[in-house]
Order: sequence, then C-alpha cells, then structure tokens
Amino acid sequence: MSFAITESITWVGKKDWEIRKFHGEEYSTHRGSTYNSYLVRDQKIALIDTVWAPFADEFIRRLANEIDLAKIDFVITNHAEPDHSGALPALMKMIPETPIYCTANAVKSLRGHYHQDWNFQVAKTGDRLSLGGKELVFIEAPMLHWPDSMFCYLTEEQILFSNDAFGHHLASEHMFNDQVDRCELYQECIKYYANILTPFSRQVTKKIKEFVGLNLPVKMICPSHGIIWREDPLQIVNQYAAWADDYQENQITIIYDTMWNSTRIMAETLAAGIRSSDLAVTVKLYNAARSDANDILTEVFRSKAILVGSPTINRGILSSVAAILEEIKGLGFKGKKAAAFGSYGWSGEGIKIISSRLHEAGFALVNEGIRTLWNPDHKSLDGCYEFGSSVADQCPFATKQNGA
Ligand code: FEO
Repeated sequence: MSFAITESITWVGKKDWEIRKFHGEEYSTHRGSTYNSYLVRDQKIALIDTVWAPFADEFIRRLANEIDLAKIDFVITNHAEPDHSGALPALMKMIPETPIYCTANAVKSLRGHYHQDWNFQVAKTGDRLSLGGKELVFIEAPMLHWPDSMFCYLTEEQILFSNDAFGHHLASEHMFNDQVDRCELYQECIKYYANILTPFSRQVTKKIKEFVGLNLPVKMICPSHGIIWREDPLQIVNQYAAWADDYQENQITIIYDTMWNSTRIMAETLAAGIRSSDLAVTVKLYNAARSDANDILTEVFRSKAILVGSPTINRGILSSVAAILEEIKGLGFKGKKAAAFGSYGWSGEGIKIISSRLHEAGFALVNEGIRTLWNPDHKSLDGCYEFGSSVADQCPFATKQNGA
C-alpha cells in the first residue's frame, strides 16, 4: 500500500502490525510500528529513507509499482540504522549509480553495515538539493538519536522529514495525527522519548532552539516511525522541548521485586504512606519481574522520585531489580530523587546496594532507605507508612486542592 501525503509526496513505507520487540529485545512495541519511506516527485525524484530488511522485497515491489526505479534521482538516508536503511542493499542493486545523500557519519555507518561503496554524497547543515521547483534542505541532527542522524526540509511544501525524532512506535490504519487517538499517540511518543532520547536531552534542547531559530514554516512533520504530524505539527516540537527540560510530573513510582511477599507488602505500605500525605501526588507500583521494562522506564521519566526495593539475596539484590537499575542508569535521568527499601533475613545489604546504584545513576537519595527483618510486623509497616509520607514531603508537590 502506498499513500498520497500531498500531490508530490507519496508514503511508500511499511506498517508492521506484528512487531512486539524492537532493537532486538530492547524495546517493547505493544502497538506495532511503521518504517516510513517517502517518495518526493518534482522535476527530479527523491526517495527519503527505506524500510527494515525483512520487508525489503515487498518494499521494492511496491516502489516499482509506484515508479520506474531508474527514475529515482536521489536517495536520502536521514539515518543509517537498519530499520531505515535495511532495504538499501536490495534497492541499490537495482539503481547502483544513484547518489545517496547522508551525513559523513552515516557514510561510515552504512559502509560498516553493508560493506558497499555506493555513490555517497555527504550532506551538511544548510546544504540544498534542488529537485527542480522545490529544494531539500539538510539539517544535521547528531544524537537525535545517533551521531549520523539528519533531518531534511522540503521547501514550497514546507514539510520536515525528521527521521526518528518526533516519531513513535504505532501502527495505525490512519496516516495523520488528527485521525488517531491522542492518548495512545502521546503514550507512544513519551515512551519513545523516555527510552530513546532521554540521554540526549541536552542535544534535543539545542537542536530545537536551532530549528526554531531558522523560522521555517512547517505544514507537516513526517517522522520515520508512526503517524504524520499534520494538525498543529509544532505541538510535538514544543512537547520535545518540555520533555528535554528534565521533565517531571507529580508522580512517585515504586519499583520492586519480591521473594515471599515481604518486599511487596513494604511497597504497598510505602504507597499508602505517600497517598496519606496532603500532597497532590500519583503513586504507581511495578513489580520489575512482571512488568515491561520500557513501560517502567517511561514511568520513571514521569516521576519526581522513585522508590526501588528488593529483598537481600546472596548478599545482593534480585536480578530483575539489578537489571532495571542498570537501564535507569543508562538513560541518565536528571533532577530526580530516590530511596531504597527491602526485606532481609540474614545479612541485609540490599538497600545499600540499591542506594549505591541509584546514586551512581544520578538520583538524589532522600535518606538511607528502609529495610525490614523477615516478614514486616505492624511496627515495621508503620515505619514504611511514615517513610512513604516523608519521601513525598521531600519532593516539590503541591498541596491537594479541596481535599481531592
Ligand atoms: Fe528508527 Fe534509530 O532507528
């Protein structure tokens, strides 16, 4: 299926309704994804990005139905990651001399992936490629999200092709943002930002300022995953600016794993303590062994503080908690508070280990954490309740209005 975006732009990508794990097993895609490729027809013809290799044959077949492949004058590779470049080897067998416009870093990456010496043309910010009546203007976007990433902007049509930036993993029967459920769309956008772009937030802020400073009118933003931003397209740019600014909602997230329910009971009592405060705070609980890691990381992104709990086992912590702490550290969250909790029977190092990892991950520890010996009794649970309330008190939450 292809789809006319405008008179001169045709979407020739692939909707992948089945995919549930992306980046190997690293990213959950509960709602599928798309690999967006765009054919731009003017006096010259450009193809912007391709699709993932498993869909290469289908892509080439559909593209050939749309246009004589020999008439493609330029291939634009905004980003070399295989979900967008995977069909290049098959395509370039058909049109081996066609120039590929991409950044210098993308040349390195494409050569590394495919070991082909294609007709690379290095694009830099401000370079323009004439299609006849319209031009493609290139804008390098390093670390949004790879060093090779690039946007391109189509003059006259006023369309930004942003590749991964402003994208999201969402397969939909629809093509445009005004046609889909806004909550689903934003849920996927924030998950995408939290899990992929958080480490690069400083670069996101800089790039958005630079892009806004160009004063380019934008009628649409066409990302490489998900739907196209047609209605108020700059809404997602403004949202990215907010997310990049050490974003927080009025939320505390409790992440734990448990062996015989002692740590789970502590988690639930901590949550009750947080809710007992007169502060407007949402509390969410996730068992790390039973929950999707990307969903948890999205909730960490939303939070002002997190509480992380594990029983002590073999002088360490449970592997599910160790794993999520490693992922939290990798994302480099900033400006968030944290504390550790957990039960123990013998040595009881768990909360020290968790506290240390939270500190390494850049979280401000609100205290030394709380632990309980064996199964928590009433006194221990009273301590957890007060602990939860005190953590909420140490975060900048507003007071509840009208007792809500
Ligand atoms: Fe969608 Fe970074 O690839």
